[in-house]
Amino acid sequence: SPVPTVFTPLTIRGLTLQNRFAVSPMCMYSANNGHLTDFHLVHLGQYALHGTPLTIVEATAVTPNGRISPEDSGLWQDSQIAPLKRVTDFIHSQGQKVGIQLAHAGRKASTLAPWHYRTLGKEVATEELGGWPDNLWAPSPIPWAEGFPTPKEMTLAQIQDLIQAWKSAASRAVKAGVDLIEIHGAHGYLLTEFLSPITNQRTDQYGGAPFPNRIRLLLEIITAIRSVIPPSMPLFLRISATEWMSHSSQSWDLAQSKKLASLVADLGVDLLDVSSGGNNPDQKIEAHPYYQIDLASEIREHLRKEGKKMLIGAVGMVTSAEMARDVVQGEEGDETVEVVDGEHGTKARADLVLVARQYLREPEFVLKVAAELGVGVRLPLQYSRAPFPKKKKG
Ligand code: FNR
Repeated sequence: SPVPTVFTPLTIRGLTLQNRFAVSPMCMYSANNGHLTDFHLVHLGQYALHGTPLTIVEATAVTPNGRISPEDSGLWQDSQIAPLKRVTDFIHSQGQKVGIQLAHAGRKASTLAPWHYRTLGKEVATEELGGWPDNLWAPSPIPWAEGFPTPKEMTLAQIQDLIQAWKSAASRAVKAGVDLIEIHGAHGYLLTEFLSPITNQRTDQYGGAPFPNRIRLLLEIITAIRSVIPPSMPLFLRISATEWMSHSSQSWDLAQSKKLASLVADLGVDLLDVSSGGNNPDQKIEAHPYYQIDLASEIREHLRKEGKKMLIGAVGMVTSAEMARDVVQGEEGDETVEVVDGEHGTKARADLVLVARQYLREPEFVLKVAAELGVGVRLPLQYSRAPFPKKKKG
């Protein structure tokens, strides 16, 4: 029987991935003043050793005040290039690819790593704990929740500086040898805060009710980054397709995400990584295994109708071989569908499967899926005496 689509190569601009899995970006709260450490080298390197074609480095702050926690990764200064290059060099030595997610945490910056807030019983990283609660940026001075610091409404000059910071961080990522860049526009961090009418109550050209104002900063950042990265380099964008606030009168929703998707496709975004939520403590999510993948699928469908070639990444609750296969394969018996270079097939829900938590449980997740689906995957030469067994069919 033919190889499942999930194990066929995917070409995005000048980059070809061996198959259609990716490690979704995950903050590890283990950086040293924004510099990646040995922890990251081993943690990220293990995925390349185990057949993952693309590993995306965690949310990496473009300015120091854009870190979620004091221990977040950053690319705001040149000294942060070398430790990232160690990671990219290692992953490349295994014949695999590496991306990085660039981010600014906005009003959700300056919090403590989860294990610290569990022991200390508070989430805000105060100054004594290495935080910067008095220097948070947001579109409007609205705190995340009670007990959290009130962010500063960004001035127009700060917005210009921020665009420059994204651009410089992208240049540094290129110098460090990454194969692609993902813009973090999801989960209630700064760019989401600009997109949502709940968190963006500005009255200038970057805000308020009009949709073109709320998306302006994101579009400008996309253009700025595209201008400094090689034309052959893919650019991904992660968004929260809905903020799950349909119970409030106005919020960011799937309809606006579809509109945004069409626009960013024309600005050179190659893959939209569809996540959701994170902008409001009182979001109402009805989670089920496909709850986010369905959002991805709807946006993909919309793009196909509009004749746009942007690819779609699906993420969320993928834990089994069947699910990983079905996300890009579509329905059983639909094995003729080819998804290459943005030519969308008819049934697949997405083009790339991003996985986070299952990779923490099983760094060899892609090998397990391959074994279960009866497909071979290239292993490091060093491991070749112990090939991963294929599961017997039937
Ligand atoms: C995350 N997630 C995340 N998302 C993101 O866009 N940037 C990030 O840096 C992080 N950091 C992070 C850390 C940890 C420890 C977890 C578990 C998650 C979200 C993640 O990428 C993914 O979207 C969700 O976890 C849903 O996918 P899974 O875990 O169901 O496969």
